[in-house]
Amino acid sequence: MEDKKAILRVENASRLFGSLRAVDGLSFEVYEGEIFGIAGPNGSGKTTLMNIITQVIPPNSGHIFFHDKPIHKMPSHKICHEGIGRTFQNPTVFESLSILDNMIIGSTFGKNHNRLQSNMDKIKEVLDFVNLDKPLDRIAGKLLVNDKKKLMMAIALIAEPSLLILDEPCAGLNISEAKESIELIRKIGEKGITVMLIEHNMQVLMNISDRVMIMDAGKKLCMGPPSHVCTNELVIEKYLGKRTAKGVKDIAES
Ligand SMILES: Nc1ncnc2c1ncn2[C@@H]1O[C@H](COP(=O)(O)OP(=O)(O)OP(=O)(O)O)[C@@H](O)[C@H]1O
Ligand SMILES: [Mg+2]
Repeated sequence: MEDKKAILRVENASRLFGSLRAVDGLSFEVYEGEIFGIAGPNGSGKTTLMNIITQVIPPNSGHIFFHDKPIHKMPSHKICHEGIGRTFQNPTVFESLSILDNMIIGSTFGKNHNRLQSNMDKIKEVLDFVNLDKPLDRIAGKLLVNDKKKLMMAIALIAEPSLLILDEPCAGLNISEAKESIELIRKIGEKGITVMLIEHNMQVLMNISDRVMIMDAGKKLCMGPPSHVCTNELVIEKYLGKRTAKGVKDIAES
């Protein structure tokens, strides 16, 4: 991956909540076209990292570049126009609006927002891609968790992001739903969209990611290809434990 071009560059980024350093001087790059996995213990700063990249919560310090353009002072909607899409750890849609209206709102963001706005063919194509087969007039708040997560993904995808940030897309799903979600992430990667994926299930993360970063207390504990990360002693000691590390090693090396 050394010759790959960085789509996202995070330099010495920090976010404090009072005296708590949720993200603590973090630096890393995400390469164009890769699936970049992120894991770490609860409270290690994964969601806060996503929030400072997308300016849901601004960083206190540091620089963030998207395609070499600084975005750490840009408002969220402009970051979306630049080509970064995201989903949230808790399914977040416009609850009182229909599926169609949610999609129309999504289509007003992104690089091609003028062209995409209210384009029914495109809306249907994206809903089909995420496999959400509910009537377009169904109120989003009435959808079950899995369908709400599909809609949240569709809202992000219709803005045609070049980088898609996914915060625990499989959380709260049963095994078959989680498998479907992982397949969808693979398909998104195959479209050439760069993916940043937070996922606690290490089997899943090691299997799907090109590179993985393990976070601990707001810092980078280890980063590299899955086979490197799951054999790292610090990662085994602080996060994986010996048994899980053994379980994921074969997956990472396959
Ligand atoms: N808005 C906030 N105000 C105060 N503290 C916060 C806020 N958001 C996060 N924190 C704290 O920052 C730390 C990192 O939280 P964060 O949600 O980023 O962790 P995480 O790695 O995503 O955890 P999880 O795996 O449980 O989702 C935690 O101690 C959390 O309580
Ligand atoms: Mg989180």
